[in-house]
Amino acid sequence: MCGIVGYTGPKKAYPIIIKGLKRLEYRGYDSTGVALLGNSGLKVYKKKGRVADLEDYIVGKNVQANTGIGHTRWATHGEPSDINAHPHSSASGKLAMIHNGIIENYAQLKQELTNKGYTFKSETDTEVLLNFIEDIKNNNNCNLEEAVRIALKRVTGAYVILLIEEDKPDTIIAARKGSPLVIGIGKGEHFLGSDASPMLEYTKEVVYVNDYELAIVKPDELILKNLGNEKITPFVTKLDLELAAIEKGGYDHFMLKEIFEQPSTIYDCLRGRLDAANGTITMSGVMDNMEQLKAAKRIIIVACGTSWHAGLVAEYIFEELCRTPVEVEYASEFRYRNPIINKGDVIIAISQSGETADTLVAIEKAKEQGAIIFGIVNVVGSSIARISCGGAYTHAGPEIGVASTKAFTGQLAVLIMMALKIAKEKGTITIERYQSLLVELEQVPDKVASLLKNADQLKIIAEKYKGATDALYLGRGYNFPIALEGALKLKEISYIHAEGYPAAEMKHGPIALVDENLPVIFVATKDSYHEKIISNIQEIKARKGMVIAIITEGDEAIPALANDVFLYPMLMKLLHHC
Ligand code: M6R
Repeated sequence: MCGIVGYTGPKKAYPIIIKGLKRLEYRGYDSTGVALLGNSGLKVYKKKGRVADLEDYIVGKNVQANTGIGHTRWATHGEPSDINAHPHSSASGKLAMIHNGIIENYAQLKQELTNKGYTFKSETDTEVLLNFIEDIKNNNNCNLEEAVRIALKRVTGAYVILLIEEDKPDTIIAARKGSPLVIGIGKGEHFLGSDASPMLEYTKEVVYVNDYELAIVKPDELILKNLGNEKITPFVTKLDLELAAIEKGGYDHFMLKEIFEQPSTIYDCLRGRLDAANGTITMSGVMDNMEQLKAAKRIIIVACGTSWHAGLVAEYIFEELCRTPVEVEYASEFRYRNPIINKGDVIIAISQSGETADTLVAIEKAKEQGAIIFGIVNVVGSSIARISCGGAYTHAGPEIGVASTKAFTGQLAVLIMMALKIAKEKGTITIERYQSLLVELEQVPDKVASLLKNADQLKIIAEKYKGATDALYLGRGYNFPIALEGALKLKEISYIHAEGYPAAEMKHGPIALVDENLPVIFVATKDSYHEKIISNIQEIKARKGMVIAIITEGDEAIPALANDVFLYPMLMKLLHHC
């Protein structure tokens, strides 16, 4: 994933692009760069490191320009370095391009160009595509827009590309397939971004560019075309997002802000849907597809990373409440298999961004085979939301932190409501259990708020174990995927190797790893597995492992065994049968 920004208009492009890149650093932060078009021609500045490093590097350099593009990179082809950073310049030096995505047939294109005598400065697929475009432009004596269109017909893979050309100082050519692109419409100016955050303070009117569309963007003109050169009328959407929602609001970093936002984001997710007093759940996307959801012979959940973990939790919940068989698939595996999709299967795609390429392609393929796609997505208007037959937004607000937090709990809230709604319609839940779960679900935001009040205790525990080089996260039942998610967060944020595992599986081999240096984090809430997990804790203690247990308030058994405990209010007692 990379972040892209573009601007053309009467303002100075550089400050707008730099500010936009800072907002998009959650999409990639190993190198950054800008290309600026001004009176003194095309200037490209790029640097390994974060946007702040680029700013330091640019101090004193010429940044006078009203048109420009910027990129923050998460390396795919070629290590993070100054040379591999975007923008890339073409062989003639007249074109500059940024790219988010992967050109899968780049090796073949590179060979063709190499045979013609081209050489490459970087190891990137982007530089190959750029020179491929320039080669077409030169050979066909056509304009850049035409060359891009011809080139993209040969490209396989995913991309958003933004190009600028020395001889056209106010024009940006953009195209997308499989990666997100938003164009903001200002007064005599246009903004481009991977999402709407770089343009929020300038305009609320945006166009979400679709796959296989190409945009010719000038200060006072936006032309959209398909790859067949036919004009398309841009569909303008009004953003319902305020600037405050994408700023840090006094927290040291976005992840912390987003963790502490969870009481309100879960509340926002439930608001207008859950009404425990009247025993109702209102979800129009679910109701519109209720017949298929009720009759589903199988639910296949497709997602990646954290969203996949939410899918695993949903497997327990849907099977328990709706009695529908559920399979949870990594989108990155599902899309490359030849999966069997039967009539009556429903696919649920889960994604925070709504743009994850593997998830998007997986559901496109399933849709081609006639599957009903239900999307659970956070970003409104994103590709997965648009391609789904129905769906529900998580309403968690922008998640800027790379490590997903509030989006995960939002996904769980939507999935639980959805399961309850289907179970009620199907008659697989008693009215008493349904009603009690509604009441408990309504209390979750307040309980999460009270849990977060004790967050300082976690700092003490973290300080004690910060020197560990490995960690294990264990849980049973639906706490098993929570353990997987915990391990993912530790790896991502602390760069400490961690594994999540079903607690009862430990004895089948991995227990050999346990010694006095290994912190083992148990997600051990008071549920129907409680006694069993106590046995698992004892197995770890017998091998001198250090046990940190996340337990339900009032649990007296586990504190006697664990080295450290963190107390957790009973969130949803009735789900603990799952
Ligand atoms: O936007 P998505 O939910 O589709 O993203 C999928 C994963 O890349 C994502 O959940 C990732 O694992 C988390 N950001 C990790 O914290």
